[in-house]
Amino acid sequence: MADKIPHIDGILHATGKSQFISDMPPEKDLVYVYPVFSNVSRGEIVEIDFSESEEIDGFIDKITCKDIPGENNVGVVEKGEPVFPEEEVEFFGQPVCAVIAKDYFTARKCAKLVKIKYREKKPTLTIEEAIEKNSFFKPQLNINRGNVKKGFKESQFVIEGKLETPIQEHFYLETQTCRVIPLEKGFLIKPSSQSPSEIQEIIASVLNIPQNLVTVDIKRLGGGFGGKEHNPGLYAAITAVASFKVKRPVELRLMRDDDITATGKRHKFKAKYRCGFNKDGKIKALEYEIYSNGGAYVDLSIPVLERCVLHSENAYFIENFKLKATACKTNLHPFTAFRGFGGPQGVFFMESIIEKIAKTLNLDPMEIRKKNLYKSGDRTPYGQKIKESYLQVLFEKIEPTYKEWKKEVEEFNQKNKFEKMGIAITPIKFGISFTIRALNRGYALIILYPDGTVSVSHGGIEMGQEVSTRVAQIVSKTIGISVKNIHIESANTKRIANIPPTAASTAVDLNGNAAFKSAKILRRRLERVAKKIFKEKFNISCEEIKMENDICKCEGKEIPIKEVIERAIWDREKMAEYQFYKTPEITDFNEEKGKGHPFYYYVFGVAVSVVKTDLLTGEFKLLKTKIIHEMGNSINRDVDMGQITGAYIQGMGWLTLEDMVYKEGVPISISPSTYKIPTISDIPEVFDVELFISGSKYSSIFGTKGIGEPPFLYGESVFFAIKNAIEDGEKKDSLLTPPATPENILKAINTLKLKREK
Ligand code: MTE
Ligand code: HPA
Ligand code: MOS
Repeated sequence: MADKIPHIDGILHATGKSQFISDMPPEKDLVYVYPVFSNVSRGEIVEIDFSESEEIDGFIDKITCKDIPGENNVGVVEKGEPVFPEEEVEFFGQPVCAVIAKDYFTARKCAKLVKIKYREKKPTLTIEEAIEKNSFFKPQLNINRGNVKKGFKESQFVIEGKLETPIQEHFYLETQTCRVIPLEKGFLIKPSSQSPSEIQEIIASVLNIPQNLVTVDIKRLGGGFGGKEHNPGLYAAITAVASFKVKRPVELRLMRDDDITATGKRHKFKAKYRCGFNKDGKIKALEYEIYSNGGAYVDLSIPVLERCVLHSENAYFIENFKLKATACKTNLHPFTAFRGFGGPQGVFFMESIIEKIAKTLNLDPMEIRKKNLYKSGDRTPYGQKIKESYLQVLFEKIEPTYKEWKKEVEEFNQKNKFEKMGIAITPIKFGISFTIRALNRGYALIILYPDGTVSVSHGGIEMGQEVSTRVAQIVSKTIGISVKNIHIESANTKRIANIPPTAASTAVDLNGNAAFKSAKILRRRLERVAKKIFKEKFNISCEEIKMENDICKCEGKEIPIKEVIERAIWDREKMAEYQFYKTPEITDFNEEKGKGHPFYYYVFGVAVSVVKTDLLTGEFKLLKTKIIHEMGNSINRDVDMGQITGAYIQGMGWLTLEDMVYKEGVPISISPSTYKIPTISDIPEVFDVELFISGSKYSSIFGTKGIGEPPFLYGESVFFAIKNAIEDGEKKDSLLTPPATPENILKAINTLKLKREK
């Protein structure tokens, strides 16, 4: 049923007319607030001196923790994350206080002139330091299945090792932004947030006002990627405290450098593992000890850790499995949600182990993977049954391409010494649902107007992923009103309330299902009225009425839907419907037992990447990609392709080009010139993405499956392809020992010279 429907706001975006927060016309008296960030990683606040700042023309006021009328807290999973710290700063970049000025640039200038004295303390920065100091967030997560000891004993090979994954910056285009407008009673908040209800709760508590006097309204985000799931609460709170104090509308917008310095990112993870297997590659036992660097406050570190744990076996059945995972508290900015939400880290560990098994046995990694893939009916280490595994089928489909490309790679590598090609294949099995069961809720309010147009409010936030386009399509299909007559409203907590964040790739499942329920009820009412009109007008009794393209049809006769709506209103039928959806079947993951059924279903897929690397410079080029992505059905093929290709490239960026650099706890790669995200030139020349429409019944609305995050994991195949290319260099010619450090390059050049002289 995938229709060709363009982005619902595509024309607005393409013509530059779509409004983000800072594009909205300024309210009368709008002023700007800018935070003063800590320039130490840890220290007691001794003194804050605003005097220089106060002398600047345009300075209006300042705010500190003393100006917070309510609770000094923005933590939701756990309290204790302050708006402004009262005694001690806990990370470099933490907002300590803020200044308010007449315009944006004056506010920044004033903020820069604030002098803060600290009594510095030694910060904890790394996972190792945190382990040494026992600095952890609770709870620790455990999984225990089978008997690993026995498994190791029965294994012909046992390998062990250490792995780690890098930090990643979200690099959304719109930085953290918020505008707060005081109303006759209460406040209107316009944050750039994936979680409007969280913002509402935080502001009410920070300002000590009732929640019904806080209205949060969000039209769209200039990208979120998880960076706007929890991060925006702090900045919305600062803006609200400023507005509360000066009693004027206030805007906050972070400069890029400050945004990268101060806000949460993808967690660094480390793992120690032991893996037992047989000479045919069959894995017998796996044991993990996993740590993440959670930063200064718990933020979403525990659910992120949980999703890592629940993906740390990726696509493979492992009979004996034991795992212990802990999030560390350190003095870096808090780490937070980022596309995949711990999943990519867990999968990276497993895929690294598979590659190592292949090296140990000198077999093609493809064979090791095939040996261990989940089959339908297998259970995960946490006990959830994989009702339907598409992994075998996907491997069969992609194998011819893999073999063909592998041959090319081998031929190239035989002829070339300093340039090597590499190939890798990465399967995925990604669980869809919030792992916190309570969050799996969707909402939709549909209103029909007598001119045949529709207003839809739903619980999803539009951040580029086109949840709105797809919800509009669901409504359109169900009622028969064309997408051009459907307007998707901003997310507003006065229309749709108590909603979970738009996250975990669930927004279409949850809110699309709610919209479907509302639309179905409205359609039934319209059919009832239409039957009456067909009878009156044409004297026909309709059994079944067709409704599509804004027209009701019965036995060759037609009535415009708008006429039916008009009549329905006249007949006192309710032409608005508010519906709710909750995901069935799922349970929370039980932390003590290490068991649960946290996912409604799984998404499957497989990716093959081919790269060419220059062993002397370390430069690489992604040449070819083939992805086969399983989904039950597609509502909008173009949107799905956009999500798959975009996520894949973002995943590649994480493990290859991007490098978040810190110097003693201070982020230093804080601008586009030092933090390199992929660009158009990094797209492979062959980029073959295939949607495998499985028709799976373990899926969601109209048979679709969540698409936002799973394809991020395909990016890992680029990393392993590069690794394989480098290792080919190592294997066939010891001339160069990667990595291509300056020393190694020099060594290689010297060796080459010697060879020439001979
Ligand atoms: N796509 C775009 N263009 N921009 C984004 O910020 N966020 C991703 C993904 N795709 C994102 C995106 C993340 S992290 C998630 S969880 C999902 O979209 C959320 O939206 P969905 O539930 O509608 O898939
Ligand atoms: N994914 C994204 N965000 C979340 C989740 C999740 O599984 N759980 C809580 N917040
Ligand atoms: Mo996505 S990391 O669940 O916002």
